[in-house]
Amino acid sequence: MLPLLLALLLAGNAAADLDATLIRDASLTTPELIEAYGYPSQTHTVQTEDGYILTLHRIPHGRSSNATGEPVFVQHGLLSSSADWVLTGPDHALAYILADAGYDVWLGNFRGNTYSRQHVRYTADDNEFWNFSWNENGKFDLPAMIDYVLNYTGKEKLYYAGHSMGTTSFFVLNSLKPEYNDKIRLMFSLAPIAFMNHVTSPFLKALAWSYEFDEILWDDLGLYKFFTNSAILKAAGEDLCEDGAVTQSVCSNILFLTVGFDTTNLNKTLLPVILAHTPAGAAAKQFLHYSQEVVSAHFRQWDYGLFSNIAHYGRTAPPDYDLSAVTAPVFLFYADNDWVSNIVDVTKLNASLANPVTMYHVDWQPYNHLDYLWGIHSKELVYDVMLKYMPNY
Ligand SMILES: *[C@@H]1O[C@H](CO)[C@@H](O)[C@H](O)[C@H]1NC(C)=O
Ligand SMILES: *[C@@H]1O[C@H](CO)[C@@H](O)[C@H](O)[C@H]1NC(C)=O
Ligand SMILES: *[C@@H]1O[C@H](CO)[C@@H](O)[C@H](O)[C@H]1NC(C)=O
Ligand SMILES: *[C@@H]1O[C@H](CO)[C@@H](O)[C@H](O)[C@H]1NC(C)=O
Ligand SMILES: *[C@@H]1O[C@H](CO)[C@@H](O)[C@H](O)[C@H]1NC(C)=O
Repeated sequence: MLPLLLALLLAGNAAADLDATLIRDASLTTPELIEAYGYPSQTHTVQTEDGYILTLHRIPHGRSSNATGEPVFVQHGLLSSSADWVLTGPDHALAYILADAGYDVWLGNFRGNTYSRQHVRYTADDNEFWNFSWNENGKFDLPAMIDYVLNYTGKEKLYYAGHSMGTTSFFVLNSLKPEYNDKIRLMFSLAPIAFMNHVTSPFLKALAWSYEFDEILWDDLGLYKFFTNSAILKAAGEDLCEDGAVTQSVCSNILFLTVGFDTTNLNKTLLPVILAHTPAGAAAKQFLHYSQEVVSAHFRQWDYGLFSNIAHYGRTAPPDYDLSAVTAPVFLFYADNDWVSNIVDVTKLNASLANPVTMYHVDWQPYNHLDYLWGIHSKELVYDVMLKYMPNY
């Protein structure tokens, strides 16, 4: 998360000793975490049509059975990685809950994050590497990963669960390449993001308008890659955000300021582990494309500016993504206190999709945008609801 960086700018030292398990978990990768908690773990790599090499993490089955069930593909959002689906541990984290329920769990990693920073021609130091938005995540990353999972497992369809940008890119994919709709049994949108003009996060609104007025400054600063995780971030997370640190409330408040306040549902003890894995890297263009959505009130392709749009699209404004082409069944979760995925925007999305299953209101007033990943009560509030619906599709 972008504002986490602010937390790290605040110098500070805390004395308390971190629990040994937390220190361990902060330095383990996703597959190492999966193994440490007694689950089978596999790593697969996939190459996209445009040359990015992506990593997929897989939990083929749960603790109580060796049988591999139907595949579920789980896709993280902006600045995140596969780690977000396992960080809170067995009985809390979605990946383990799905595996223990008998599903074959595949965790995607978008280009640019900690696990997907290779390309056949570019290195992650090249600006060309970072020249992508969630349009490319949807157009190239998702079809490569979905086709890989289907081919590898010999299945014709999979379940898809996405959080935030993991939903945006799904809608991009299935509108640009509608043949992918047939590969989806059921899609779960955790905090759906397509239309964004009702975003209430003061931070995101400020970002959107600063870009609108100062596009040139953004270019000059060459903000290609955003917040890639590093040892410094990890150390700062441990010092500033651990239990007993006077600055721990600063960490959680900065998080809340972006996504909505929910002190009841965040396990603050886990903050050092969360911060060791998040942010996991993103391209500035992903943020800027969202900024364009906040300002334009459209769900549409990248806006190059008037004249360049004519060159790229043959029209002055970028084309909208055709949501009526998204015919896969889509289950939309939304929450009152989600400052990013606003109910008005979700309602508009629901009305635009060809086959919405349900708009499901998360029954916890303070539930926020990130609670879908780490919320203490997410199993009962969201994941159990998913498990209940899956056998019907
Ligand atoms: C799964 O397979 C392992 C190794 O073959 C075996 O030790 C274990 O008992 C099996 N577990 C179950 C639940 O069948
Ligand atoms: C980024 O990609 C677009 C096409 O999506 C291309 O028009 C543009 O020239 C590229 N910019 C850089 C800096 O590579
Ligand atoms: C599909 O899977 C088979 C074996 O599982 C593999 O040999 C083949 O290369 C795969 N094809 C693609 C396009 O990934
Ligand atoms: C918070 O996380 C810690 C460390 O994993 C765990 O021991 C504790 O049970 C968690 N608390 C809740 C309420 O889930
Ligand atoms: C969502 O869309 C469906 C189909 O268009 C409609 O029946 C339903 O009432 C909508 N739900 C909400 C909460 O607007």
